[in-house]
Amino acid sequence: MVKKPTVLSGVKDQVLKAPVYTLRTYDAEIKLNQNENPYDFPEDLKAETFRRFMALKWSRYPEFVPESLRTQLADYVGWQKDGILVGNGSNELLLASLIVLIKDRTPVVMPSPTFQLYGLVSQILGARIAPVPLKPDMTYDICGLLTRAEEVSAKVLILCSPNNPTGSEVALEDLHRILKTFNGQVLLDEAYYEFCGRTGMQFLSEFPRLVITRTFSKAMGMAGLRLGYLMAHPDLAAQIAKAKMPYNVNQFSLTAAQVALDHRERFRPAIEAILGERERLRQLLSEIPAVRLYPTGANFFLFELTVPPRPVFEELYQQGILIRDVSAYPMLSNCLRVTVGTPSENDRFVAALRKILDRVPAAPPESK
Ligand SMILES: Cc1ncc(COP(=O)(O)O)c(C=O)c1O
Repeated sequence: MVKKPTVLSGVKDQVLKAPVYTLRTYDAEIKLNQNENPYDFPEDLKAETFRRFMALKWSRYPEFVPESLRTQLADYVGWQKDGILVGNGSNELLLASLIVLIKDRTPVVMPSPTFQLYGLVSQILGARIAPVPLKPDMTYDICGLLTRAEEVSAKVLILCSPNNPTGSEVALEDLHRILKTFNGQVLLDEAYYEFCGRTGMQFLSEFPRLVITRTFSKAMGMAGLRLGYLMAHPDLAAQIAKAKMPYNVNQFSLTAAQVALDHRERFRPAIEAILGERERLRQLLSEIPAVRLYPTGANFFLFELTVPPRPVFEELYQQGILIRDVSAYPMLSNCLRVTVGTPSENDRFVAALRKILDRVPAAPPESK
């Protein structure tokens, strides 16, 4: 008997099997859950963006290729304009890159845990994903990545530095080793670059199989406007461009990005303030006995608790402080993640966390 088609009959198997990428919307007075910038885009630069935007014709499409923004970006990052793509968030450029690189059963190696989108998109595209656990101290297992890449004949290796959700960085000599040894495509996500200052850019000329993505969502305080960029060899960038939608970035976001780059020095004080608070938060959190803090190169901390993390997350939330429960990630069953906020937000978070943990007797840490 012929099987009757159902509403989902036409959906690819790998999509049906993929988890839903979603984030429950919580409202909270103090929002430290998405690694956003606690300092908004400067007020006068908002006004300048509106002024420029008002002078444009809204009835017209934006430029097919945003030449002026690419020229500014080329100057900002020190890379050739033809090797730069602009996207509706760096997520769009990650998606376009993976569409171009992955076909059915393509072996893809990535660390675990890492930014969930890589696995989700790769799975939907039909990749065979080979996750390589981070080391117990959450540093990258470079030998593990290279060995696994060889074992599965990987075509793509994805790295995130600093890594979300752990904050771990790939050392530049390790990146160099990966690029020398692995002969597939390396995708390096530098969404948090401005908070660590280390970049793989210097390897782009020597290793044209490297693709680097970055974003205006974090350090530039533009998460709501969705703007990211990609740097690669111009020939490779031209291929990746085929997989992104025409006019993918709206004129308002393009205008705001141009204003931001025209006034790039104005974003430095907020970055410096976040770095200063990161150091203070590190100090404060490391004084709490039930907390084990992992090193970070980003604007957030991963920390492990000696008590179950979910009730702590819930209690913080009840007190108006929203952080991220990452305990469902591989290796992170006792962990939470917190974004570095303003001084008062960080103080409120630490005080609340201290109080909650004082009430719960800490179990002795497991020996590792
Ligand atoms: C590692 C990483 N890459 C990319 C993104 C998304 O960036 P965008 O807002 O540019 O799409 C995030 C956002 O949290 C992230 O953590």
